[in-house]
Amino acid sequence: MAASMMRMVLMVALLFVSAVLPARANDRDALLTKPGVFGTFAAFQMDHDWWDLNGEARVIAVSEVKGLIEQFSHKVVIESYLLRGLSDHADLMFRIHAHALSDTQQFLISLLGTRLGRHLVATSYLHGLTRQAAYVPGFPEQMKKELQPATSDAGLKSYAIVIPIRKDAEWWALDQDTRATLMQEHTQVALPYINTVKRKLYHSSGLDDFDFITYFETDKLEDFHGLIRALEQVKEYRHDRRFGHPTLLGTIRPLDDILELFAR
Ligand code: HEM
Repeated sequence: MAASMMRMVLMVALLFVSAVLPARANDRDALLTKPGVFGTFAAFQMDHDWWDLNGEARVIAVSEVKGLIEQFSHKVVIESYLLRGLSDHADLMFRIHAHALSDTQQFLISLLGTRLGRHLVATSYLHGLTRQAAYVPGFPEQMKKELQPATSDAGLKSYAIVIPIRKDAEWWALDQDTRATLMQEHTQVALPYINTVKRKLYHSSGLDDFDFITYFETDKLEDFHGLIRALEQVKEYRHDRRFGHPTLLGTIRPLDDILELFAR
């Protein structure tokens, strides 16, 4: 009797845990690939006092942040980037994906409350939402096929670039068909770069001062440069009222590497 009671309690506890903590791998996948997910780019500078702390204090501070990230890993997917040395805007950046922006907020508040967090100066917070493609479904079949990157080059890239974009009022006043034609031209000139530049689009109108956050990963910055030059030639580009400011460029690095660098 006691044993079956214990089994019942255990089963209820397990059910409760699985409801509160979703299966990590599945949820991570969904957060990184599905529409309707919030993406936040949070970039920080380390203040000068941080570098004056002694080594031991920095190591303790860093391990506290690692613990915090582990604690939040069932709710949010956190990726890290080293910007120091490449970007004058920030030293490090997090890309955080969550079903609820309030979970991202909770993580960032907790981060800022840590020993290391007290030395972080926020330089930009950008928020966007992943959405179903608005134009691709109406593209010619051949173009849709070409938009699938070759899987052989789909692995991890070295660099990440974030460019927020604000369109002008004229763009939003165009009808859907006209915009679709312009986006087809955009896609046509961008297609030669599909295998070396990985991309992700976030819609941010109303969530920050931009309409889109464009995010890219590449090993070949020269290709990325060529891509931007090519896109600057198309009509759609003339509707960009703000492009970058900030443009964030960094290397994709595990948080341990970044924190170790900051603990030295
Ligand atoms: C490999 C390179 C690229 C390819 C293949 C590509 C392709 C596309 C496609 C197919 C769409 C339409 C998505 C939809 O149906 O909603 C799109 C949208 C967009 N792309 Fe690109 N793109 C590339 C690079 C870039 C770059 C470098 C930028 C700017 C830095 C950029 C900015 C945008 C913006 C802002 C939109 C959203 C436009 C809107 O919904 O009004 N893209 N891109």
